[in-house]
Amino acid sequence: MAVTSVIQLDGVSKTFGRGKRRVEALKSVNLEIAPGQVYGFLGPNGAGKTTTIRILLNLVRATAGGIRVMGADPSRDPSVLRKVGAQVESPSFYGYLSGRANLQVLARTSGLNDKARIDQLLEQVGLAARAEQRVSGYSLGMRQRLGLAAALLTNPQLLIFDEPTNGLDPAGIQEMRVFIRNLVDTEGKTVFLSSHLLNEVEQLCDRVAIIHRGALIREGPVTELLGEQSRVRIEAEPVEAAQAALSERWLVTVEEGALWVQAQRDSIPEVVRCLTAGSIQVYHVGEEHLTLEDYFLSVTQGETVE
Ligand SMILES: Nc1ncnc2c1ncn2[C@@H]1O[C@H](COP(=O)(O)OP(=O)(O)OP(=O)(O)O)[C@@H](O)[C@H]1O
Ligand SMILES: [Mg+2]
Repeated sequence: MAVTSVIQLDGVSKTFGRGKRRVEALKSVNLEIAPGQVYGFLGPNGAGKTTTIRILLNLVRATAGGIRVMGADPSRDPSVLRKVGAQVESPSFYGYLSGRANLQVLARTSGLNDKARIDQLLEQVGLAARAEQRVSGYSLGMRQRLGLAAALLTNPQLLIFDEPTNGLDPAGIQEMRVFIRNLVDTEGKTVFLSSHLLNEVEQLCDRVAIIHRGALIREGPVTELLGEQSRVRIEAEPVEAAQAALSERWLVTVEEGALWVQAQRDSIPEVVRCLTAGSIQVYHVGEEHLTLEDYFLSVTQGETVE
């Protein structure tokens, strides 16, 4: 049977602490992730991203709700997690061992004996030159890369990464992006990743869910979420008459002689008809997409930490 969704959350809630210390980290989250894509889980600090990922990996129990990972409930059937590669906040390694030795230890515990695979992974994540160095001397970015190699060791179909570019420099971020896209585009895997880096999600992900204060506030293809927030810039004369004509149906502002209309792309013909019907001269019509960043800031009111 083909798996139609690799991750499914049904009304998942998580409460930490009691009384005054009670924190509702997740509030009835529903999420369904189809295979074969990079799925972004976007939210400001404290939104509940890591908590969700920890629940998926059976590191934390949900307070309520149903969880399915590759078709099974990881709290009842943890063996399903063998099919999942994961990297959660600051992976722990043996500091006194080299990067390569750490991967060898992990490979052995997974019953793997594949030296070539370790070489290939070290190469892929850009650690080949530093593989013999002790992890205690690794930078944050190098640890991050080693964590990625560890997640890929058993060649899992589903990868779950919590803020995978955390600690990487701009070149490293770019490399990581290409690397993650490749996992999906050429290796046919599914990647679920969390991020608070908006432009990153925009550039890397096919779909995105936005989580805010433990609640899912938007979900959809990245392109669709962007389309949801487009503005139309119009040059027309006389400006006052144009504004009056459009204001009956759309939100219109005038900046530096141009009209800005809050409207979707598919309303543009109607906007133009409305202007020409009023004998207004139209010189220019252009659509401007808000970036996911603008969008994200508008739905979360620019909030970063609760
Ligand atoms: N073990 C815990 N005990 C108590 N509260 C917790 C615990 N883990 C998380 N929380 C709380 O749950 C909420 C969500 O935290 P979580 O770590 O999931 O956020 P996040 O989206 O991963 O944030 P960040 O971007 O900062 O990593 C926060 O209010 C946090 O303080
Ligand atoms: Mg987190």
